[in-house]
Amino acid sequence: MKDVLHQADLEWANDWLTQPKRHYVDGNWVDGAGRDWAVTNPADGRSLCQIALADAAQVDQAAAAAHRAHRSGEWSRRSSRKDRADMLHAIADLIRENVEGLALLESLANGKLYREALADDIPTCADIFDYYAGWTDKFYGEVSPVEDGFLNFTTKEPVGVCALIAPWNFPLYQASLKIAPALAMGNAVVMKPSEYTPLATLFLFELIDRHLDLPKGILNLVLTDGEAANQLTLSRDVHKVSFTGSTVVGRKIVQNSGASNLKAVTLELGGKSPCIFFDDTPDLDGAVDRAFTVMFSHKGEKCSEPTRFLIQRGIYDRVLQRLIDKADAVVCGDPLSPLSDQGPQCNEAQFRRIMDYIEIGKTEAELVAGGHADRAGANADGFYIRPTIFSNVPNTARIAQEEIFGPVLCCTPFDTAEEAVAMANDTAYGLAAGVYTRDISRAHRVADRLDAGMVFVNRYGCYGLSSPFGGFKESGWGKEMAIHSLSSYTKTKGTWIYYGDA
Ligand code: NAI
Repeated sequence: MKDVLHQADLEWANDWLTQPKRHYVDGNWVDGAGRDWAVTNPADGRSLCQIALADAAQVDQAAAAAHRAHRSGEWSRRSSRKDRADMLHAIADLIRENVEGLALLESLANGKLYREALADDIPTCADIFDYYAGWTDKFYGEVSPVEDGFLNFTTKEPVGVCALIAPWNFPLYQASLKIAPALAMGNAVVMKPSEYTPLATLFLFELIDRHLDLPKGILNLVLTDGEAANQLTLSRDVHKVSFTGSTVVGRKIVQNSGASNLKAVTLELGGKSPCIFFDDTPDLDGAVDRAFTVMFSHKGEKCSEPTRFLIQRGIYDRVLQRLIDKADAVVCGDPLSPLSDQGPQCNEAQFRRIMDYIEIGKTEAELVAGGHADRAGANADGFYIRPTIFSNVPNTARIAQEEIFGPVLCCTPFDTAEEAVAMANDTAYGLAAGVYTRDISRAHRVADRLDAGMVFVNRYGCYGLSSPFGGFKESGWGKEMAIHSLSSYTKTKGTWIYYGDA
């Protein structure tokens, strides 16, 4: 695999960007009837390409096409489980064969480092399709222990039409995490990527259309904004919404479900995840380095990153100094350059939001690193922000309670485990949490009390397709990844057979 950007890939992307950007509905490419939208490169603020967005009527048409395709049964009933697995493996192969192009489009629109997209984000998308290909014939129902004379068994049926709404931070990864289990379980899909980062998802749909033979209408793509996408969550043709994004939009989707056909909803929302370092943290420097990387990689635009470091007082100064040194050494710059450590924030709105929170933080706590944009020299027109650290942050501060979704870390000292756990749990969110200690009993005790959907002991930020991802409280409903996401893409039917008394 190539690990640096090649001129030929850049030329390919420049050419691809000039071609028309269309929506994929019922197996056809259609022009958008909505407003014009520029997909922007956050590294220089310039337009990458123009898209005529889908309007609400076109969103409805996509949902109706998916509904017709689902009712035809061609995918849900007549395709064999092996056919479905083969299709998912074929999508995985397409991703692997086009990893450079997909990684480049992802980096250009999002601002994430090209080398990370190439080595990590995009290959993982292929793994997701392979993983769920393996599930097409393994998600069993059960035989229930009912009275003599009856057989009762459960079967798993596809939900129907799944509206899959993705954010801009891991665009193709989030899309894959939704499309793969939806197709594996026999559903029809309307995919709605973020308007800021639709490019890699659009390119994958083009590849699927060109090379594979999915039944028409099973896989649809609408490129649009939240206003038109709202129609998707109101549509009676849609039976399930899987959403990843802000808590505000998550609430709106729940309301829309209630106001329409009570469609099933799963939500992956925000986080304000704590990471607790006790005095006896094993390999303290290594632990801090790892947690720093998880916090600041992808420019801090990750829902599960540890944005609150709770540090026991005996090691507070040492940990803080190491964090400051690491933050000051970060090179913000062109995400396509191998010399950059951190790219620009995804878009101008996000840049401004983070800068506003930094100003709020300056009034609430002690700024010890960063605290400003990084716009010197070649960064002049990009949305770059220095890794920023606040010290002695009260847990009640807005920067400790509200999701910032950027490179802003809050550090707070504590004395006792009870105090640390109380602070860790004292937010509206409950996505992830970390604890570092050599004391195995304390590790279990604290992990047990942390009110979070994922807990990491002595290594923050471990993810695997066979482990569930998702939060508690206002961080969301339901789980993605693993077997856990399959139940949300299926309906369980109980069937009674009376075979008579002996
Ligand atoms: P957002 O929640 O507005 O957008 C996420 C997706 O939802 C996009 O595809 C958007 O077009 C769509 N959307 C927006 N309104 C909709 C509606 N009414 N109906 C259906 N779809 C709709 O997120 P945004 O504005 O891009 O970012 C704002 C904040 O959200 C961030 O600062 C961060 O705090 C949080 N966020 C969390 C993410 C996560 O992974 N949990 C990812 C992205 C953002």
